[in-house]
Amino acid sequence: MALPSPAIGMTQTPADAHTPLIAFTGVHKIYDLGEVKVHALRGIDITIRQGEFVAIMGASGGGKSTFMNLLGCLDRPSRGTYLLEGVDVAGLNKAELARIRNRKLGFVFQGFNLLSRTTALENVELPALYAHVRPAERLERARAALRIVGLADREHHYPSQLSGGQQQRVAIARALMNQPAILLADEPTGNLDSRTSVEILDIFQRLNDEQGITLILVTHEPDIARFAKRIITFQDGRIRRDELVPERHIAAEVLPTLAQVEDED
Ligand SMILES: Nc1ncnc2c1ncn2[C@@H]1O[C@H](COP(=O)(O)OP(=O)(O)OP(=O)(O)O)[C@@H](O)[C@H]1O
Ligand SMILES: [Mg+2]
Repeated sequence: MALPSPAIGMTQTPADAHTPLIAFTGVHKIYDLGEVKVHALRGIDITIRQGEFVAIMGASGGGKSTFMNLLGCLDRPSRGTYLLEGVDVAGLNKAELARIRNRKLGFVFQGFNLLSRTTALENVELPALYAHVRPAERLERARAALRIVGLADREHHYPSQLSGGQQQRVAIARALMNQPAILLADEPTGNLDSRTSVEILDIFQRLNDEQGITLILVTHEPDIARFAKRIITFQDGRIRRDELVPERHIAAEVLPTLAQVEDED
């Protein structure tokens, strides 16, 4: 699968190349449920630079999704600071946060989250619709995004007419629509078999290598995490380990060794 370049997913150069893309300092997240308070993050200090590919691991309840929600500007820290390209997210109002989510961030979830009565192409177009991109450009971008994920020939299929892996590829194409600098994926391969998972990782590695998109992916599976460049392990709301992957798996090399199980027509 060849990526057109430069095309979808081009990242804007940060104002200052030395500014980390993401910088968390002393970040806490406390969910206040009235009677009960859940201290989900307990002092997170982390920097992530443009072009990194990070896997987030750790036991259930350790704070991974909470961390991703903060990264994705879907929620705010209770204490501490989050600088995104040097900008303090706490100082932004709702409209500005929505704008950042739209312009800088792409989201991919375990459950794909596609609209079921809407074709692959229309699902992919949606974020650009919200961003008021002109129809002709929207269509062009959506087709380019579907090409990147290898689904140009499935644009008129509804989600129910696609395999799980294909649905996840549509979701990735949708996440690429507004040319994000960062792609956030919370267990994107959680519902997929192992070959299909590696196919998804192949797409992520290409986006990372060829277009410089920063990838942050939550996974429970050590084998999946080894496709990343760096693994951060959360435990009880703290970072327990932060390490580089010594011999990282390359999906394009692993794929030919795996049996073909899926969807050849
Ligand atoms: N919206 C919420 N309101 C209250 N508590 C929450 C909320 N979301 C998460 N929590 C709590 O915060 C803690 C961290 O949850 P989080 O979802 O971040 O864990 P996780 O590492 O993503 O786990 P999993 O691997 O099961 O997805 C847990 O104790 C959880 O119960
Ligand atoms: Mg989670």
